[in-house]
Amino acid sequence: MCGIVGYIGKKNAVDVVLDGLKKLEYRGYDSSGIAVVKDGRLQIRRSVGKLKNLEENIEKRPLKANISIGHTRWATHGKPSEENAHPHTDPTKSIVIVHNGIVENYAELKSGLEKEGKEFKSETDTEVIAHLIKKYYKDTLHCAVRKTLKEIRGSYALGVICKDEPNKIVCARQDAPLIIGVGKGENFLASDISALLSYARDMIFLENGDIAELTSDKIIITDTENNVKNREVKNIKWDCVQAEKEGYKHFMLKEIYEQPRTIEDTFRGRIYPDEGRVYIEEVKLSKEDVKNISNVYIVACGTAYHSGLVSKFLFENFAKIPTEVDIASEFRYREPILNEKTLVIVVSQSGETADTLAALRLAKSKGCVTLAVCNVVGSSISREADHVVYTRCGPEIGVASTKAFTGQLTALYILALDWARKKESLSKEKLKKYLKELWEVPVKIGNFLKQAENVYEVAKKFAHKKDFLYLGRHINYSIALEGALKLKELSYIHAEGYAAGEMKHGPIALIDDDMPVVSIAVKSRIYEKINSNIEEAKARGGIIIVIASESDKAIADKGYSVIYVPDCDEFVSPILSVIPLQLLAYYVSVALGCDVDQPRNLAKSVTVE
Ligand code: M6R
Repeated sequence: MCGIVGYIGKKNAVDVVLDGLKKLEYRGYDSSGIAVVKDGRLQIRRSVGKLKNLEENIEKRPLKANISIGHTRWATHGKPSEENAHPHTDPTKSIVIVHNGIVENYAELKSGLEKEGKEFKSETDTEVIAHLIKKYYKDTLHCAVRKTLKEIRGSYALGVICKDEPNKIVCARQDAPLIIGVGKGENFLASDISALLSYARDMIFLENGDIAELTSDKIIITDTENNVKNREVKNIKWDCVQAEKEGYKHFMLKEIYEQPRTIEDTFRGRIYPDEGRVYIEEVKLSKEDVKNISNVYIVACGTAYHSGLVSKFLFENFAKIPTEVDIASEFRYREPILNEKTLVIVVSQSGETADTLAALRLAKSKGCVTLAVCNVVGSSISREADHVVYTRCGPEIGVASTKAFTGQLTALYILALDWARKKESLSKEKLKKYLKELWEVPVKIGNFLKQAENVYEVAKKFAHKKDFLYLGRHINYSIALEGALKLKELSYIHAEGYAAGEMKHGPIALIDDDMPVVSIAVKSRIYEKINSNIEEAKARGGIIIVIASESDKAIADKGYSVIYVPDCDEFVSPILSVIPLQLLAYYVSVALGCDVDQPRNLAKSVTVE
């Protein structure tokens, strides 16, 4: 969690760092802060709450310099407060640092330092790093950082400056992302590329154990033993505008409306429906490799986990591979039975989710083949997995995941079809049919979004309700879970997703005439079954909201609120049926005046367990 930014060059570093922090606010917004070195003196501003508070603080007490580091925080050790806000310094105020990650042995390190007479000003784990760097500072900052990192256990992306070496920033990473932006006469660092896109296109993705020293015209990367490391400079083509709101009121709404394009981008150049061909360049598994897979585990968190639940149906129905889906935080502690014939797929938008990363490492340690479905290029998960399928959705800024989810569904759908082709478990005709179904999805979503006003009407009508039920069955059961998660996280309304067939086993007791029941009843093999479940809910007084197929005229006469989505095959239907649920949650959240893009208590990227 947390975002860090740094700059050294001729510009006003404060402007560059504040601008970068704005792009990283999705990583945490409990507090923020900035440090500069000017005229041989460290100057620091810190504020609790969102970044605008820091900006106001700087307006009152202006700062200007050519070197700066900044931080936006999601609290892990110590409450959100000014004392706990980064940057942190050593007691003599000569070293200042920003940190994203967790120092696991900080208590032990802190008590050692306290025995040496050092006083601490915050409750954070980070402050021990500043103290240690000062302790080891004899000749150079780089050397002191190297020595310090040898003592630290845990994860970090660090930016460090020292008042006695005012022309350099030292930064380092271990299990937390850190990127260097390479400029001309200036250099940058940040937790992710969206913070730097307006300034630099050439980026270096630091690897675990890397320590870099940045001056305005030089970047030197070493390991903790001071061996020089050569890291590739990658040119990033992401559009700057992609990272902005493009006129939408919220990033989330923009991201919902981007889905026709992001889904198409995800399958572009990978599927050829007329030829019945699938080609995923990044996945180097041969026919033999795929035939050798005995079972698949899909492991992820939150929304990404729901994409795994949908995909179980695809891997089992198309590729005939037994598939289990697990929540990463459960998987990693329950000793799953894994071997070299197990393929473990980890799904993650950010590629930095701590539990998913740990699950990936566990799978690798057991000899499994691993594959990541990931959105952020160069993220830890994408770099550590044996194979990666990128979802090509561009930056997702809204904390609630939308376009990344449909990107994940798309990537996993393609993967399942590719393996069905390799295993010959689907006829050529069926393969073509399913590819064509996916091919048509972006246009169908585009058409739906053009006339989605009735979702707004439904949201307005029911926004004041205290509880919602979401029902689905078969491949759309997971979409009921996802719909409920979206409503909970965005509007703080209690919502439960259930497999509709389970209602009679207990949850039906919840239904009364104040309970909206959102049901996914698109045309599929279980259409009749879910309709019976909906009738049962209606008979108990439930207020029924149905996501139905356009051609389902009969449903209009049943006295439900109906949201129609275009007809499609049941196996692609989750990609379509989730869209009205995203919009429903969005509009309810707006109606209630909630903070749509940054819901309370959440952060975009969960890099702590
Ligand atoms: O970056 P990841 O896909 O690994 O993130 C996983 C979850 O934290 C994420 O999907 C979360 O549940 C979203 N806020 C849901 O909208």
